[in-house]
Order: sequence, then C-alpha cells, then structure tokens
Amino acid sequence: MIHPLPPSAPVQNEDIQAIRAQFPTLHQTVHGKPLIYLDSAATAQKPQAVLDALAHYYQQDNANVHRGAHALAGRATAALEATRECVRQFIHAADGAEVIFTAGATASINLVAATYGQAALQPGDEVLISHMEHHANIVPWQMLCQAKGAQLKVIPINERGELLLAAFSELLTSRTKIVAISYASNTLGTINPIKEMVKQAHAQGAVVVVDAAQAAAHLPINVQELDCDFLAFSAHKAYGPTGVGVLYGKKTLLEAMPPYQGGGEMIREVTLAHTTYNSPPYKFEAGTPNIAGIVAWRAALDFITAIGFPKLQAHEDALLTYAADLLQRIPNVRLIGTAPNKISVLSFVVEGMHHLDVGMLLDAHGIAVRTGHSCTQPLMDFLGIEGVIRASLAAYNTKEDVDRLAEAVEKIVKTHC
Ligand SMILES: Cc1ncc(COP(=O)(O)O)c(C=O)c1O
Repeated sequence: MIHPLPPSAPVQNEDIQAIRAQFPTLHQTVHGKPLIYLDSAATAQKPQAVLDALAHYYQQDNANVHRGAHALAGRATAALEATRECVRQFIHAADGAEVIFTAGATASINLVAATYGQAALQPGDEVLISHMEHHANIVPWQMLCQAKGAQLKVIPINERGELLLAAFSELLTSRTKIVAISYASNTLGTINPIKEMVKQAHAQGAVVVVDAAQAAAHLPINVQELDCDFLAFSAHKAYGPTGVGVLYGKKTLLEAMPPYQGGGEMIREVTLAHTTYNSPPYKFEAGTPNIAGIVAWRAALDFITAIGFPKLQAHEDALLTYAADLLQRIPNVRLIGTAPNKISVLSFVVEGMHHLDVGMLLDAHGIAVRTGHSCTQPLMDFLGIEGVIRASLAAYNTKEDVDRLAEAVEKIVKTHC
C-alpha cells in the first residue's frame, strides 16, 4: 500500500505476540481447531483494556451524563467527554464540538442525509456516490434523493476496483450538492484519493461525506488535511465496542443544520409552544447515549495510538502482500480487488464453488472469514459475481494465520473443484 507515512522498523514477531496476548477472544478453539480470526472488517476483536473499561464503568461510575449534580454523574460525564477529546485528536478535528457521538457509521451517514441533505437538496440536484459503496453509503442517499426529487449518480470503477477519477470529474457539476464516498472499500480494500476528490467537489460547491468505517482501523485520519465536510465511522471495526460511532462535521455546517432527533440533551429551552436547540455536538445527541460504549472506546483508541499507524501499516501491508501471493497461486482462486493502494482486506472467489460453501468449510478448519456480498450488492453486480470470500487482516493476525488460510483453501480446492 502506498501511503505517506514514515517507514516503520520491521515489525517483530514478539510485537505481534504481545498484541495477541491482549485479545482474550483469540485464544480459543473452534470445531477443535485454534481460532484464526480473519473477519475484522466486519467487526474487530476487543483488547482486554476495552473489556476492563466497560466493566469498570458499570461497576464504578454508572450514571447518566450531563444531567446530575452527584459524583457518579460527574465521573460518567468526564469519561464520556474524555473520549470525545480522544476522538478529536484521533481524527485531528479542530474542535470537540465537531465530534458527534452516534450509534455507528450507518447512523452517522443517516444523520447527515436527514439533516444537511434534507435542508440542502432541491429537485434536480444531484448526489454522487461510487460503485464500490457499502449499502450504508447508498441507501440513505437513495432515500434522500427519492424524497427530494434529486438524482443519484454513480462514479464508475475499473476491474481492479479503482475509481475512475476522470469520470468523477465529468460527473461533478454545479448540480452536485453532495459527494458521499468511502475512504476505503470493505470488499475491495481500495483506498480512495479523498483529498483530491474533496478539492474537486468543493470547486463545484458540493460537500463531501467520507465513509471512514473501514479506514479508522488502518489509516491515520486527518479531517483538516482532507478538508472533508463530514466523516463517519464506528468504534467496533477499530477494536472498540459495538453500538458506538462518530459523525465529524465542520462546525459552521453543524451550526447551520437543522437538528436530527428531538428529545433530551439536544435542547436549550422547551416550552409547549416552542423549542430552541443546543449547540453542536449536543444538538445532534438526543437522549441517553451508549455511555459505557463511548467510555470504553477510549481504550481502543489508546490501543491503536500505542502501536502507531506506521507500525500497524507495515505489519498489515506485509501480511496482505504475503496472503495475496499465496492465494493467487492456488488453482481456481481469483482475487477480487487488486488496486495497488489497499487496506488489508483480501477478497477472493473459488471458481466452481459457492462462496458460502467455502466459508463453511473454512469454519470447520477454525478459520473465520466473511462470505457473501459484504453489503456491496451493486459492486457484485458490476463484477458479475454473487459474493466473495473475504479475509480481513488486523493488528493481531500473523503469518501463521495466513499460512493456515492458504493451506485450508488449497485443501478445499483439491477436494471440491
Ligand atoms: C465501508 C463501510 N461503510 C459503512 C459500514 C457500516 O458500519 P456500521 O455497521 O458499523 O454502521 C460498514 C460496515 O461494514 C462498512 O464496511
């Protein structure tokens, strides 16, 4: 993968073993075989520090946030706001007010569509997505376009799974109001040139919503450098708890946007006749959030920061290259998504076998992979396939995990093809 990071010293096996030791889920057998977890793009396993933080919160600090005068409420609020500050630093946002807690990437994208999108779109306007998007970055825009009489346009991709940037430039017009694009594809692994796309979109007056669901665990995110207007991601794909995520939005946009859900926390003053709204981020955080999840998320962010992206990328890139090399030597195996600039997601098909059968046979070997359309059905249609087998690699995966995957696939191909 090409990414402008300082080179890391080679990652030692002891480093990876020390990382693995922090993940209790990894140390089990499945169907009598040691578990090989290669489904982190669906959800990553959680380090002990995250599990401890969840337990600590419920054992010591459990209270509602922003609304109690007592000590526990103060501790819970401080812990929640500490995570907001951690996320701010993690994505290099200028202001904590730009970090809105949500239930995850899907919720964040829906929030933008239902607020900014509803307010900004007029009949005849256009929203631009790409052919490689996850359903979470397609359906909310389809729903919005239907509601507003706007048009959804699609940036095409090539067979390797790269965006056709010339086509993007041609599709961008003064009618384009929103560009919604994944930072990294969950099926292909492709990393998209967000900074360049933002520049072009802004020149036409469009805002850019970045789906960073897959990027957060693999790429350093700098929203100020990208200059994106919104950015969404979930905690759970980056070693954090499920049910928690973030929407980043530029403060000026958030201030001008209508609120999302109505309820407690998002108000300044309520009378039976009229309500005035709180300022961002609280304006978009109606009701009691997933406090425990948010508090424990901080431990996951600390886990990533402690390793550091240069080291993480050096490790994952080496594993990805090794895995791609081994798998493509196996007869009947075809890799899906071969762009040079990728996160550590390796999808493939076995010609003559259904992806679900391959997944179940791998499971019998103790190997957990994702099978199916991976919530990218339009991409499957473009590729002319029904589904893929997806192995996704994370900080805790080893060369031995990849060897076991390749051995198992080879055995399956020999027996069944
Ligand atoms: C690229 C991409 N976008 C959005 C999502 C949705 O994330 P979540 O289910 O955490 O809301 C996913 C999940 O797989 C994803 O891979």
